[in-house]
Amino acid sequence: MTALRNTSVALISDAAPFAIRAERASDVVAREALLDACFGANRHMRTCQRLRDGRAPAEGLAFSVVRQGKLVGTVRLWHVSAGGVPALVLGPLAVDSSCRELGIGAALMNHALAAAKARGHGAVILLGDAPYYARFGFAALKTGELSLPGPFERDRLLGLELRQGALDGAWGMVAPSGAEAPQARPRPAGKTRRLAARAA
Ligand SMILES: CC(C)(COP(=O)(O)OP(=O)(O)OC[C@H]1O[C@@H](n2cnc3c(N)ncnc32)[C@H](O)[C@@H]1OP(=O)(O)O)[C@@H](O)C(=O)NCCC(=O)NCCS
Repeated sequence: MTALRNTSVALISDAAPFAIRAERASDVVAREALLDACFGANRHMRTCQRLRDGRAPAEGLAFSVVRQGKLVGTVRLWHVSAGGVPALVLGPLAVDSSCRELGIGAALMNHALAAAKARGHGAVILLGDAPYYARFGFAALKTGELSLPGPFERDRLLGLELRQGALDGAWGMVAPSGAEAPQARPRPAGKTRRLAARAA
C-alpha cells in the first residue's frame, strides 16, 4: 500500500506513461537483466560494488520504473561513511535502452533525491559522468579528499549536499555503513548460488 501511495506517474512525449515506485522483491530478475544489459557481465567487479557487497539499500531508497508493464529503470541509495561523514552513495542508476532520452532517468533521480532529503539524509555521493549528474547539482567540489576501496577516476567522484555543509570535513576512505542484506530464503542449491553471485 505504501508503495502505491508513493508511486509517481509521468506522461512522456510519446504518451506512454511510466511509474516510479518502491523496488519490490519480485523485481529481482528483471532488474538484474537490466543491469547486465547496461553495465555488462563484469559489473560486479566495479569499485562501487565494494560499497554494496552484503549490504541492504538504505531504508525506502530503492526505486523501480515501470512502463507498459515492464521494469525499465532502477536506482538505489546506500549508507556509507564518507571519511567519517554520514552519507549515501547512489547507484547503480540504469534506464532500459529502448526508452532513453524520454526523461525517465531525470525523473528517477529527482524522485530518489527528494526521497533521500525527506528522510533527513544530508549528502549523496556517486561515481559517474559529471556531464550527466551536474544537472542534479552533483560536483567534485567536496569529494576531492575522499577515496574509494578500489581504482576510480577522480573526476567521476561527485557529491551533492542535501543539507548545506553536510560534506564539510569529508576526508578519507568511503566505507559501507548500512545494514547487512537479509539472507536469501533457502532454495534449490543451483539457484541459490546463482542469485548470491549476482546480488547487486
Ligand atoms: C544515464 C541514463 C540513466 C540516462 O537515462 P535517460 O532516461 O536516458 O535520461 P534522461 O532522459 O533523463 O536524460 C537524457 C539526457 O541525458 C544525457 N545523457 C545521458 N547519458 C549521459 C552521459 N553519460 N553523459 C552526459 N549526458 C548524458 C542525454 O544526452 C540527454 O541529454 P539532453 O537532455 O540534453 O537531451 C541512461 O542513459 C543509462 O541507463 N545509461 C547506461 C547506464 C549508465 O551509464 N548509468 C549511469 C552511470 S554514470
